[in-house]
Amino acid sequence: MITVHTVEQLRAAIRLARAEGKRVGFVPTMGNLHDGHIALVKRAQDECEFVVASIFVNPLQFGPTEDLDKYPRTLAADQQRLEAAGCTVLFAPSVDQMYPDGQQDQTLVSVPGVSEGLCGASRPGHFTGVATVVCKLFNMVQPDVAVFGEKDFQQLAVIRKMVRDLSLPVTLIGQPTERAADGLALSSRNGYLNEAERAAAPQLYRTLCTVADAVREGRRDYPALLSQAIARLEQAGFRPDYLELRDADTLQPAGADSRRLVLLVAAYLGKTRLIDNLQFSIDS
Ligand code: PAJ
Repeated sequence: MITVHTVEQLRAAIRLARAEGKRVGFVPTMGNLHDGHIALVKRAQDECEFVVASIFVNPLQFGPTEDLDKYPRTLAADQQRLEAAGCTVLFAPSVDQMYPDGQQDQTLVSVPGVSEGLCGASRPGHFTGVATVVCKLFNMVQPDVAVFGEKDFQQLAVIRKMVRDLSLPVTLIGQPTERAADGLALSSRNGYLNEAERAAAPQLYRTLCTVADAVREGRRDYPALLSQAIARLEQAGFRPDYLELRDADTLQPAGADSRRLVLLVAAYLGKTRLIDNLQFSIDS
C-alpha cells in the first residue's frame, strides 16, 4: 500500500490503475480505524481490484462546539490496518490540500429533505459538510464503487440522494454495521467512554431490538412505544437526543403502510454522542 498526501499523487496512482484496466473502489473515512471500517475495505475489494481509502478529519462537518480538535488521529496504526486488509492506496490529505482557498468561501453541496431532522436537527450544517467533502473526494478519486456504513444511516441516505441528484458516476454500496460482542456498534467515539459508560452503552442497541420486537409482534402505537423506550434509556443513564421510527426507504416518519422500517437513535452518555439504528420489516 502506498500513502499519498496530495491530489496530484493520488491522480497519478489512479491513472496507472486505470491504464491497467482495474476497477477502482473507494472507502472514505476520518481515520482511527476499527473493524467496521475494515469491513468496508474488504467489501470494496470484493468489487474492485484497486481500493483507495481516505483519512481526512473534515472540519467542514464539525459544529463549533463539537470534537474536531480532540477527534482521534492515529495515522500510523491506521496505515498498518489498511495494509493488512489489502488496501492499495491511502489518501491522507491536509486541510489545505482539501480546502486550498479556505473553508469560508467553499462551494457547498447541500442535500435537502433527507438532511433535515434526526442528526440534521441537532448538528446544523453537518450533512452539508459531509456531502461537500464526499463530492470533492469522489471528484478526486473518480471511483467505480464507493462503500459506506449503514451505521450512519442518514449519512448514507444523504449521499445516495447527492449521487442521484448530481448524476455522479459512482455505484454506492451500504455495508451492515459491525458490532462488539455485546451489541455496541463500533465507533471511533466509543474510545471517549469511561468504564461505567462503556458498560451502559450496549443498552442503546438493546433498546432498538426491544422496540423492533414489539413492532414485529404487532404494536402500532408508535409514539407511546418510543416514549417508553426513551424513558428506559434515561433510566440507563443516557441523555437521548432522538429515537425515531422511519420508513427505511424514504426516511420519512413511519406511516400505517410502511413495511420496511428503521429505528434511529442518538443519545449522549456523559459527553459522548452515540448513534445507532436498526432496520427491520413487518408484513402488515
Ligand atoms: P467515519 O466516521 O470515519 O466513518 C467512515 C465510514 O465507516 C462511514 O461510511 C461509516 O458509516 C462507516 N462505519 C463507521 N462505523 C461502522 C461500523 N460499526 N460498521 C460499519 N461501518 C461503519 O462517516 C465518516 O467518517 C465521514 O462522515 C465521511 C463519510 C468520511 C466524510 O467525512
